[in-house]
Amino acid sequence: MHHPASKPPFDPSIGVSPNNPCPFLRGLVGEGFVDGGTVPLNTLSQTIANASGETGLMKSWARIQVRGVALIANGFSHILKSIRSGPQLDELRGGPLDKRGAGSRVLGVDGKVNEDEIARLQSFGRTYTDPDTGSSEPGLNAAEIKTFMHENLKRAGSAVRWYYPVLMQFEWPVLLKIMGKGTGKEDRYLSVADVRTLLNARQFPDRINQRILSQPLLSSCALRFRWALGIIAFLFAAALVALVAVAEFPDQVRAMLPQKGVLAQLLPPPLPKLPETTAAFWLEQNWSLEDRHWFHHTSQGTATFPVPYTWFMALEQPRLRLFSRPGMVKDSAYLERFGFIQSPQSIKTDATTLRSFGYANVYDTTQPKSLSTDWSPVENVDGLPVGFARMTGVVDPATGRREEDKIGLTCAACHTGHVRYKGVDVRFDGGPAMTDLKKLESVTGLSIAYTLYVPFRFKRFADRVLGPDASDADRNALKQSLKATLTFLLDWQKGYDKTIAGKKTWDGKQQKDTEEGFGRLDALNRIGNQVFSQDFALSGVKGFEKNLHAQDAPVSFPPIWTVPWLKFAQYDASIEQPLIRNAGEALGVTALLNLSDAYPKDRLYRSSADVTNLHWIESLLAGPDPYAQKKLGGLTSPRWPSQILGDDWKINPDRVKSGRKLYAKICVECHLGPVNDPEFDKEFPQESVWSSSRWERIGDEMVLNPIQKSVTGMGTDSAQARVLEKRTVSVPGFLDLNPTRILGDQWKCTNLPETTSTEMPYSVGLMAIVDIVSRKAMNDAQIPPDAQKRWWGARANCPNPGPQPPDPKEPGPWYRARPLNGVWATAPYLHNGSVPSLDWMLRPAAERPKKFCMGQRDYDPKLVGFAVVEGERCKTGETQFSTTWPDGTEINGNSNLGHSFEGKGPPHKDGVVGRLLEEEERKDLIEYLKTL
Ligand code: HEC
Ligand code: HEC
Repeated sequence: MHHPASKPPFDPSIGVSPNNPCPFLRGLVGEGFVDGGTVPLNTLSQTIANASGETGLMKSWARIQVRGVALIANGFSHILKSIRSGPQLDELRGGPLDKRGAGSRVLGVDGKVNEDEIARLQSFGRTYTDPDTGSSEPGLNAAEIKTFMHENLKRAGSAVRWYYPVLMQFEWPVLLKIMGKGTGKEDRYLSVADVRTLLNARQFPDRINQRILSQPLLSSCALRFRWALGIIAFLFAAALVALVAVAEFPDQVRAMLPQKGVLAQLLPPPLPKLPETTAAFWLEQNWSLEDRHWFHHTSQGTATFPVPYTWFMALEQPRLRLFSRPGMVKDSAYLERFGFIQSPQSIKTDATTLRSFGYANVYDTTQPKSLSTDWSPVENVDGLPVGFARMTGVVDPATGRREEDKIGLTCAACHTGHVRYKGVDVRFDGGPAMTDLKKLESVTGLSIAYTLYVPFRFKRFADRVLGPDASDADRNALKQSLKATLTFLLDWQKGYDKTIAGKKTWDGKQQKDTEEGFGRLDALNRIGNQVFSQDFALSGVKGFEKNLHAQDAPVSFPPIWTVPWLKFAQYDASIEQPLIRNAGEALGVTALLNLSDAYPKDRLYRSSADVTNLHWIESLLAGPDPYAQKKLGGLTSPRWPSQILGDDWKINPDRVKSGRKLYAKICVECHLGPVNDPEFDKEFPQESVWSSSRWERIGDEMVLNPIQKSVTGMGTDSAQARVLEKRTVSVPGFLDLNPTRILGDQWKCTNLPETTSTEMPYSVGLMAIVDIVSRKAMNDAQIPPDAQKRWWGARANCPNPGPQPPDPKEPGPWYRARPLNGVWATAPYLHNGSVPSLDWMLRPAAERPKKFCMGQRDYDPKLVGFAVVEGERCKTGETQFSTTWPDGTEINGNSNLGHSFEGKGPPHKDGVVGRLLEEEERKDLIEYLKTL
């Protein structure tokens, strides 16, 4: 056996970096033909072409090949540098040429030769006779090398990338060509001894060295052909560049394509880069760590994503990657780019880990009692972000068949907020999410499509879902199901586009989606589309696409602290009954629901909604009745984090004092006294919310009836309020969905609109269907009747009658003025998220910015919200809020007017709620609002 240590290297002064995994290049370096570091392209291509022994045309071709490969050898970010100064041979490891163990494995990552692998190489060959010496030695001919390479690929399994076979063509076969002995297809062989020498001693056989040193000059004929070859090579390179561009810079390519075109839609939507986070904190909100983690990951019985849990875990990001593997969709760092917040797999872990997720520090001083420990515990085994929940024990509500676990969004996905400030991420529960769910939907669909149609991807997917040993039949079945999912999604989208194209808004305009973008969602229209259209389609009931409505009234995710104690929830004060509000939302984010008459009658309206969890969630949010103690429990609003964020966040107490006075004068009329400022209650006892006559006893509870104001008078965008006012739906007769009966009998509603058994306003249709579904879910879950009664409570499931007694100056529909505790944490403002900061909220509406970017932008503690500069351009992946389309016409749902402070009033004209504020007054008010 050969002992490398027994023979000194050829030239010990020339080191070969272990980061050079190519045996051939190592030989060139070892022999001193080229430098071990950066080698000019010209030198490299000339040397290798010489060594090939080719002449004329073939030699030029060899040079072009070498140039092509050498250009990309260090990766695509290095191309320009490679052109200028040449590839870096000591930085090839991990680059596109490195097969990461999927090749022969003869050279280890440490640059050491693996003798076992050389023996394996030899086992693929046979004995040959050296034509020069006549002696016998082991070697491999072309066919044997081919088998060897094939076996290498097989051994590597799913680690193989599509281009490895191509790369391999340039290695062992080239070595055979250059170093081989003998002639003819069968007899020309690569000597194993030569391979060993090349790798261990980095020496070429002598005859090769000679060849490199004495090269004939190019003939003039060959020179002419070089031009022709150059052109071919150029075309080839252009095609390669296009492919590389799509793979490596999809966002830029997408930006250059027509946005409605098929091509642009095949590329994933651009996502913002994640800014670096140096520290994270969860603010204290009266919830224990256990409560938080439970809220973040407990399932409410929804299958928001169109694939089972394990499939979602196995999906790769929809990106073409030429030289690496795309990441997984489930990767937290990827999902965070959609605006989600990272979350630990378990909270039963060490303090350092918890701290890195922003926990622990908060609980150093206080230890709120856990409520959620009484409930079924949850873990987050796959480390998904806040708001992702696994639904287990799934049963198809129509067939009763057991189904695979599903993956859904829970409340926390949309109701957990965070603000960023100079690398610090401050997180809080119940706050508005900064997510873009549309992008996530589109990415999920695309990643399914890529899995089916990008080479090798389905195999890897199936390996993950079924295990590497799965049978072909199982793989095929999986592929068919995945295909069926994609077909459903595509058909659905096509049907949606077609239906919406044929529909008008209530005021006669063409219906059209309004981009939700980061931080917004058109919850009401989406729920309507889900329940009154897609759920019929999923139940196999045809013909209800007609119920679809464009998503044209997006709203800013609302904060949900304190809301359990408001008589009416939602921006338009449309829901009084808390369970209906939560169950309706669960249907909206796709609880499984059977709306088919093809099964026994008792399965109609059966769903996967988890009413028990929904009830617990509500208890956790609400806490004990606040009225008696004049203090809110449950989830409290987050406090302005000046203790964490330093000087820019210091509060000026003098300004707070003046601000409080202004608040008492101007804001209480609608927002009432603050719910969490005892100072205010002392100074303005008449205005204190706790002595307000707006507290009403309903059953055993005291709830606060918030002020409602006419949309016309407020002058803010009317789209959200119009949804429940104007939208109507049709339902099949077999549903027997009679709102007058269901709501009238059950809740004694007196203000129900006219309906027939198949045509009705969307508002009461939804209230009625959610009522039936919730009762059915409780019965199915065998909740005892007395508990059911308690869970429902006494708040009615009736339409909101508007301000009482009715006020002709406040015609419906209405928006609700919420208590402003925690308002600092809820930018952008107004129900449609059209005003980026409190500062803009308190100015004349006409001065507010008409366009701004949303995504991962930093928070501004002075303006309180986002500091928008005139004409700002959005960074890659951010979404732009705009009041108008590019042609200047208004975008439905995006007006930023109303709630203005201007003029000298009162009285105020429509759209104005207070007089013009002086600069100092505005600052004082903002300072005060920070403390709420
Ligand atoms: C997919 C995102 C999403 C999920 C999941 C979600 N919500 Fe909401 N929620 C919204 C949006 C958007 C609104 C505002 C709707 C409107 O007023 O038009 C809202 C409104 C609310 C409101 C009323 C807020 C107010 O200002 O009156 C409450 C309370 C609420 N949600 C609680 C929950 C609870 C509890 C859950 C889980 C059981 C949940 N939500 C799940 C998006 C979501
Ligand atoms: C005439 C009634 C009225 C007065 C006075 C009033 N508001 Fe409002 N406010 C409302 C209503 C109604 C809304 C909801 C409007 C909407 O979302 O379209 C609102 C919304 C807001 C919001 C946005 C909340 C959110 O969900 O984004 C802020 C902030 C706000 N008001 C602050 C103030 C302050 C501060 C004052 C006093 C300086 C004030 N308001 C005075 C009625 C009023």
